[in-house]
Parts: sequence; C-alpha cells; structure tokens
Amino acid sequence: MQATEKAQLKIRDKEVELPVLVGTEGQVGIDITKLKQQAGCTTYDIGFANTASCISNITYVDGINGVLRYRGFNIEDLVEHCSFIEVAYLLVHGVLPTAAELKKFSRYLNQHSMIHENMHHFFNGFPADSHPMAILASMVTSLSSFYPSLTHKDPTFDITGARLISKVRTIAAFSFKKSQGEPVVYPRHDLSFCANFLNMMFSSPVNPYEIRPEVVRILNKLLILHVDHGQNCSTTAVRLIGSARANLYASISAGICALWGPLHGGANQAVIEMLKRIKNDQRNIKKYVDMAKDKNSPFRLPGFGHAVYKNYDPRARICRKMCDELFGSLQTSDPLLDIARELEHIALNDDYFIERHLYPNVDFYTGILYRAMGIPTNMLTVMFTIGRLPGWIAQWKESTEEESAKIFRPRQIYNGPTRLDFIPIDQRKKA
Ligand code: CMC
Repeated sequence: MQATEKAQLKIRDKEVELPVLVGTEGQVGIDITKLKQQAGCTTYDIGFANTASCISNITYVDGINGVLRYRGFNIEDLVEHCSFIEVAYLLVHGVLPTAAELKKFSRYLNQHSMIHENMHHFFNGFPADSHPMAILASMVTSLSSFYPSLTHKDPTFDITGARLISKVRTIAAFSFKKSQGEPVVYPRHDLSFCANFLNMMFSSPVNPYEIRPEVVRILNKLLILHVDHGQNCSTTAVRLIGSARANLYASISAGICALWGPLHGGANQAVIEMLKRIKNDQRNIKKYVDMAKDKNSPFRLPGFGHAVYKNYDPRARICRKMCDELFGSLQTSDPLLDIARELEHIALNDDYFIERHLYPNVDFYTGILYRAMGIPTNMLTVMFTIGRLPGWIAQWKESTEEESAKIFRPRQIYNGPTRLDFIPIDQRKKA
C-alpha cells in the first residue's frame, strides 16, 4: 500500500514526517513503523484498541454505522443467499465459488471429515465434565501430529483448509457424544455440512434424528455470521502465533483458547447462564441491569457492548429476526427469549447504556437459537468456533503470504524499578 499523505509529529526537539495510509473505505492510519529510528520513541495503545496490526483485504467493519462485509459483500446478502460452505470458500479464496468450485470444495470437506481412529482414544482421556472448548483446542493441536503441518505455499493448502473446517465439526460432535456417554456418529457423505453436524450431534443407533430443513437453514446463517470479524482477540492470536511461523493447527488452537474467554466468544455461554439465573431469581431483570451499572460490581451484561460497534451489531439484528423465524417454524417457545427481549428493551431505554452506546452484540441472541436446536450451553462457544474457522484460516493465510511478514513483537513502556543492587539471600527482608 502506497502512502499518499504525510503526518507531522513533533516530539521534544524532533519533528518527523510519518506516512499516512488510506484504506479502500477511507480509513486513515499513520504508519509508525520507522518512528523508533526517526524519533527514538514508541507509541502507547493499551490492548491495541487503536492500532492496525496489519493491512487486510478480508473483512470490513464499520462500527459507527453497523456495517459488516466479507470480501466486499454485505453480511445481510451472504446470510440470505449463501450456504456456510460458500462463504467459507469466499473467505479462504477471496472470491465466491462457481458451481464447479463449490462442488470440489464440498468434495474435499466430505473426503476429510473423519478423524484418525487413534484420535478417538484421546476423548476417553478427558474427565466427563471437561469443557468442550478445552477438548477442541487440544484435539486441534494434536491434528498436527496426524496430518502434515504446512505452510501457505504448500500446494495442498486447499485440502488442509477444508480438512480443518470439516474435522473441527466432527471433533465438536464427537466430544458432545463422548460427554453424553453415547457412541459417536460418523459423518455421512450424502448430507450437507450443517445437516451432517446436526446428525452427528443428535442421531443415535436407537433414535435416528429427523433433519429439519428450517433448522439447517438457521444453522447455516448462524455459522455465516460467525465467519470473521477483523482483528479481534482470537484472530489476532491466530496471526500472532502464525507470525512465529508456527503451523496452521497450532495457530488455530491459540485462536480457540482466546475465543473461549467470556469477554469474547465465551459471552454466548455467559448470556444463557445469566438468563437462566434471572429466570430462577423471580425473573428480576432490573436487578441484573442495576448490577451491570454498579461500578462496585464486576458484573457486566454479557452479550452487550462491543469494542468496535457503537451501534446495533448487524449480526445481533439478524439473530433477533431469526428467533421469530426459528421459533415460528418449530412452533415452540423459550422463556429465556422473552427475558432476553425484555432485558434488551430495559437496557436500550436506560441512560447508562444509551450514553455508552451499549447495544446487543452477536452473542446476545445466538445462544437462544442454538438452544432451540438442542445444543447444550457448554457447546455454544464451540458453535462459534466452527463458524469462525474459515475466517481464521483466511487470516492466517493472508498474514503468512506476505513476503515482508514480521514476527509480532509489540513494545512496552517499562515502569518497574531501575537498577537495584543484588541482595544475597541471607540479607533479604520480608516484603
Ligand atoms: N455491561 C455493563 N457495562 C458495560 C458493558 C456491559 N456489557 N460493556 C461495556 N460497559 C461499560 C464499561 O463499564 C465502561 O463504562 P465506564 O465508561 O463508565 O467505565 C464503558 O461501558 C465502556 O466499556 P469498555 O470496557 O471501555 O468497552 P470495550 O469496548 O473495551 O469492551 C466488551 C468491549 C465487549 C469487552 C464489553 O462491552 C463487555 O465486556 N461486554 C460483555 C461481554 C461480551 O458480550 N462480549 C462479547 C463481545 S462481541 C463478540 C466477540 O467478541 O466474540
């Protein structure tokens, strides 16, 4: 990317000119890569909240206007017209697939959907109440022992990408079956990606699962909503580990661990847990809203607020609508949905949330939708992971493809003690 403008920075007795980069959507970034040499200083930006760590062609997020696009396409259009697999292809390859390309990609997904039989033993080693995200992260790392680790230049990258997308889905369903003490259900070549997942989750030798097209449709949409979101915590983890030239599996495993956190993808589990608590607490919604506002309490409303969106998260808007669609077609209801809607209404009319631009984020309604499909609460972040995988793969590929790619190495402003004289052990005093 060529800089066409310059920014002036004056610090102490030095005046330096810094290149200004302008993205295709008009985002302006000051290039400070040479600042250390030019002015002998660094920049300070806790949590990199206002720092671009890369130039990326993948996902555009406009947090002020609530816009999300993958490779230029609006999320609303992709959700309406595409399957998850089509969007996965778009992310990894940069373009929407032709019918022939999609067929080939689906074939790869089918061919690589099984996991090595030796890996089945690993499941048995985990305690019965293990969190599925712990199992998933470990299993993904262990894939590198069974399948060759690779670089993006490997001609089989297409296969490896498909292999990972397909196998993570299988591992997720297997870990659920193991947690239930039930035999695993193998993937079937005649089923689509999402139908296959539901079948592996809920079918059993004594009780075949009825695959309902309306559930498959909603699952497709949900996974598309999760696919990518720019340089968030987990994606940055994937790029960071990849920057050390670690293999794809190791990098993705780091992303899984980051996503697990309740401030990130783990928020969908936290939302359901909170809604259950409210239900069991005489439905006292106001108590939880007040607790979230109380600066003496560490409690925050899970599923509310976003580092980038200062407007309604477009993914949450789509999910809210999908609740009507799914519950209508299944002809069921969920008391947690009623609580969630009332909670949203109270929060959006409360000055605390209005002043801070806190709206529901993607995690607010997704858990309720997954619950309606029968997905247990501790599997919710696993669902997010299955959806996020193509995004991580695309980001890893983009970051390692750059010839000038550098290992991530942020600086710090050291604020600890200056040089101290060493104290022998017998002269040290208790602090
Ligand atoms: N409930 C109550 N207060 C909140 C919340 C919330 N959910 N989120 C932010 N605030 C307050 C915060 O206390 C602060 O108040 P003040 O200015 O008085 O100190 C103000 O709003 C700004 O908060 P911040 O921490 O500077 O905001 P952030 O942009 O750094 O944090 C966030 C973003 C997502 C971590 C935060 O909003 C949060 O903790 N939300 C709940 C967890 C959650 O839903 N996470 C999922 C995020 S979206 C999906 C994903 O990332 O995977």
